[in-house]
Amino acid sequence: MDRLDKILASQNLGSRKEVGAMIRKGRVCVNGERVCRPDHKLDPEKDTVSVDGNPLRFARQVYYMMHKPAGVLSASRDPHAPTVLDLLRPDQKRRGLFPAGRLDKDTEGLLILTDDGAFAHRMLSPRSRVFKRYIAVLDRPAAPEDVRAFAEGLVLEDGLRCLPARLCLLEGSAAQVDLCEGKFHQVKRMFAARGKTVVHLKRVQIGGLVLDGALLPGQARELSAEECASVFLPLPEDRLKIQK
Ligand code: URA
Repeated sequence: MDRLDKILASQNLGSRKEVGAMIRKGRVCVNGERVCRPDHKLDPEKDTVSVDGNPLRFARQVYYMMHKPAGVLSASRDPHAPTVLDLLRPDQKRRGLFPAGRLDKDTEGLLILTDDGAFAHRMLSPRSRVFKRYIAVLDRPAAPEDVRAFAEGLVLEDGLRCLPARLCLLEGSAAQVDLCEGKFHQVKRMFAARGKTVVHLKRVQIGGLVLDGALLPGQARELSAEECASVFLPLPEDRLKIQK
């Protein structure tokens, strides 16, 4: 249930103040009854709303999972380089879409695009403790001391302290990193603080949402309500072996 003025403002019918004035003037009906209180509560999924007798069709918010390819900017627009929004099919494009969080230009993998600012804010806030999982290929293998340093909370070269992160050593010089914050170039800088260089980086999971293996780099598909909710689930316990 949400306030009538908030719902009308979210449909681009005016600012909260402007739609409030419309409602007080008696121009808005809910389920056929005139409503003059801006704080009237309704369920946009079930209730019908009309303004000046014209029924409103609520534009619902959209959430896409994209397999971001390397070489494309995680931005809404850029005068010089292609952005992730340019990769959407014409039928997927709509006003107000933006990438929820950023991946570096040379990083690939899971990126969520949405027009829901509150969702993005909740997902990105370190307080929500939404983990992101990355697979990094390094110039040389990480070591058990690196696992411990990540777990303790690394201090970056500029003195910034990171929250504890989980590092798992994989085959060869690959490693998996789980972290719940998003400092600039964080994974690369965490490995740099341990004297290693990231040569390839891919994000494969956000909370409980795993990158769909059927999506080719550059493709996107809509998320179901369950998939959106899974972003806020804790990562399943790691089944990969941590080498000690
Ligand atoms: N950390 C990085 O260094 N780069 C990214 O794109 C994401 C996390």
